[in-house]
Amino acid sequence: MRQLAVARTQRSPCVGIELQFRIAAHPLEFGKGRLVHPAFGRSVRQGREQGAGGRIVKMQQIENDIGVENEAEGHIGPDYNRALPNCLAAMSRILLAPMEGLADEILRDVLTRFGGYDWCMCEFIRVSDTVLPNRAFRRVCPEISNGSRTAAGTPVRLQLMGCEPDVLAANAARVAALRPAGIDLNFGCPAPLVNRKRGGAALLDEPELLARIAAAVRAAVPTDLPFTAKMRLGIDDAGRAIECAQALASGGIDELIVHGRTRADFYRPPARYDWIARVREAVAVPVIANGEVWTQEDYARCRTETGCADVMLGRGAIADPLLIRRLRGEVAEEASDEWAAEIAPAVAAFWRAVRAKVTARQAPGRLKQWLGYLKRRWPEAAVLHHEIRPLSHADEVDGRLAAAGLDVAERQVR
Ligand SMILES: Cc1cc2nc3c(=O)[nH]c(=O)nc-3n(C[C@H](O)[C@H](O)[C@H](O)COP(=O)(O)O)c2cc1C
Repeated sequence: MRQLAVARTQRSPCVGIELQFRIAAHPLEFGKGRLVHPAFGRSVRQGREQGAGGRIVKMQQIENDIGVENEAEGHIGPDYNRALPNCLAAMSRILLAPMEGLADEILRDVLTRFGGYDWCMCEFIRVSDTVLPNRAFRRVCPEISNGSRTAAGTPVRLQLMGCEPDVLAANAARVAALRPAGIDLNFGCPAPLVNRKRGGAALLDEPELLARIAAAVRAAVPTDLPFTAKMRLGIDDAGRAIECAQALASGGIDELIVHGRTRADFYRPPARYDWIARVREAVAVPVIANGEVWTQEDYARCRTETGCADVMLGRGAIADPLLIRRLRGEVAEEASDEWAAEIAPAVAAFWRAVRAKVTARQAPGRLKQWLGYLKRRWPEAAVLHHEIRPLSHADEVDGRLAAAGLDVAERQVR
């Protein structure tokens, strides 16, 4: 392919910085006419609107960093991915991970109000042998009724888990009609119960099946709907990680999220950033790194060692709701009034929403769970956690929280 036409400088709406574009029929475009990075998609549209006539827009700097001859079509994906860390730093995305039993719509709402996430994902929805009714999807992802966004406006993607290509595809088609912000496939869940039924990470020994699943779902989902997969590195070891990633990519996913652990690793640190890097280099779709990012230092190390521009935050975001702002450089590493000014009101809002959603006997467990994470950073959370731990009824918890100065009165979060 040949570089064409125009180099131009313009303001990119997606990153808000000045970029040099080149409009080109360009080999960074790969397979089936999709683009390697959503930012390119936006740029392409801009380029087209301005009548540049090229098929793709590419930052000059990427070209420099890659240092490849653009005629080398065969090297598109890996070269792009190798170059990614340097040249796309400014437009990297930060995403909120799916966490079943932890980050439901209430916590997604509370966390995304802190701002900064490009998108988040709901907990997995298990698919076995039937097409689920719409209410099953809406129950796990109520944001669908809000244009698939949290109240703060963060897009929410929906995640399916299963092992039958046709059934997953049929469910994906139904989900697609609800217009979620995207559809993801789960190949990471390590729970024995799930794995026994061949769900989640259990399939990481069957790359050929992964390819068939991805292809079936791809065919069922409109191409304008982002379609991703989230995988661990393997079952007992990472020996087939690359095969699995390539299988998913060959099936037509748009992006791949890689949690840097095997199923056997469960949630034990460290996350294997070196393996995420290997996967990234081996596939022609953008790879999103995930695992063990709790601080700014972790985030920097994760990006450096994986080479991924985009990072998905899991428990680190639960433990420190301000992490997203710290990573965006919007707040200092540690401000003295964070608890009173930011976290305590968020805990109160969370509690009010939990109270409205679940029974008075179930509610305390949800709060204990979140405080259990928050206490890693805030002593106030540790005190509350300690006080609330013996309590089993929401009314008792109300009293403790009110005594600690939290506004528990209102029962609606919005
Ligand atoms: C309580 C809990 C529930 C999770 N549920 C899901 C899930 O539904 N779908 C999924 O793909 N990953 C799930 N995960 C994995 C996370 O999305 C993420 O990959 C993992 O926690 C590693 O990231 P971290 O080290 O930043 O937490 C879950 C993790 C936790 C701790």
